[in-house]
Amino acid sequence: MKKMEINFGFWQKVKEKAVREKRPIFVLAPMADVTDAAFRRIIAKYSRMGKKSGGPDVLWTEFVSADGLCSPGREVLLHDLAFSKIEHPIVVQLFTSHPDKMRQAAALVAGLGFDGVDINMGCPDRSIEKQGAGAAMMKDPKAAVAVIAAAREGAADISISVKTRIGYNKVDFDWLRILLEQKLPVLTVHLRTRKEMSLVPAHWELMPEIVKMRNEISPETILIGNGDVESLGDGYKKVDESGCDGVMFGRAIFGNPWLFDEGKEKEKSKTEKLKDESNVIVEKLHMMVEHTKLFEKLLGEVKNFAIMKKHFKAYVNGWDSAKELRVKLMETTNADEVKKVVDKYVDSILSKESNE
Ligand SMILES: Cc1cc2nc3c(=O)[nH]c(=O)nc-3n(C[C@H](O)[C@H](O)[C@H](O)COP(=O)(O)O)c2cc1C
Repeated sequence: MKKMEINFGFWQKVKEKAVREKRPIFVLAPMADVTDAAFRRIIAKYSRMGKKSGGPDVLWTEFVSADGLCSPGREVLLHDLAFSKIEHPIVVQLFTSHPDKMRQAAALVAGLGFDGVDINMGCPDRSIEKQGAGAAMMKDPKAAVAVIAAAREGAADISISVKTRIGYNKVDFDWLRILLEQKLPVLTVHLRTRKEMSLVPAHWELMPEIVKMRNEISPETILIGNGDVESLGDGYKKVDESGCDGVMFGRAIFGNPWLFDEGKEKEKSKTEKLKDESNVIVEKLHMMVEHTKLFEKLLGEVKNFAIMKKHFKAYVNGWDSAKELRVKLMETTNADEVKKVVDKYVDSILSKESNE
């Protein structure tokens, strides 16, 4: 049998850098209506992506329908696929159960300049599963293998990876074995079954077993663990304990675009100790306004402003008068209004402080 070469593409450099710096690979999770074009740009800027002790090593887009990219609805989806120079390397996540659509869509996104394509084989959303895509792929490994092959045909020059779960109704090592046999450059495993959704703690205790299997079947494949990683420190710990190569951070980024900046992490704990809260709050609120303006500029025509309100809840949290501000922000309908509400609030906390 002909030995299959793994196409690492940009991942080769990512891997070498992490080895050189003796640290895990840290990547951002795809999250629909969260890690959109606007938030990704904010994360790349404030986590200092590509700079010393900044991150993440790789950004993921939200999932995008390959079928949609092959239809006249493409124009709207292309807004989700906008990215700037500071966001490289960036992987686009696609879903479909149709190899021909995957082939076409992979060719299209390769032409847009993405560094890699990731295939979603874990999403539990019913509307995605009805199409035979996302988590439903776990029930049809033959289709999954065909979709991977089609992505490789469509985008031969860039790397093709997969993100999945540990099984459908129960833990299914056979499924992971099949994926590892595909000689993927990267396999990301969200350590929960489809049935578990996000309702139980991620099964990090299974990762050593998955690492063992990877070592036997495809030792070069980069294995990324995902689920409940709370901070960079937690990421170091989980990699250390489980033996995988990196971690993917999802919900930890909510309201915290600095997550991947190691310098900021240290500074934050220092300022927290000093109780210099208002500076941190003001900085965060100004960043939230910048995020909102960017959302309006890049996505205002195609996405509902309500999406930003989820971010407001995450940004404005954890200090005494946060609720009061949150309530006001929920009534806003555009970036100008958000700025006005924030400016007024910042003035009030700063003047209170100078009177103390
Ligand atoms: C709002 C939201 C949207 C998500 N959208 C996607 C998606 O588009 N593609 C995907 O593979 N996973 C998606 N996920 C799952 C995350 O990528 C990740 O696997 C999950 O949140 C567990 O990681 P965490 O505990 O670090 O958040 C989504 C999760 C959330 C909370």
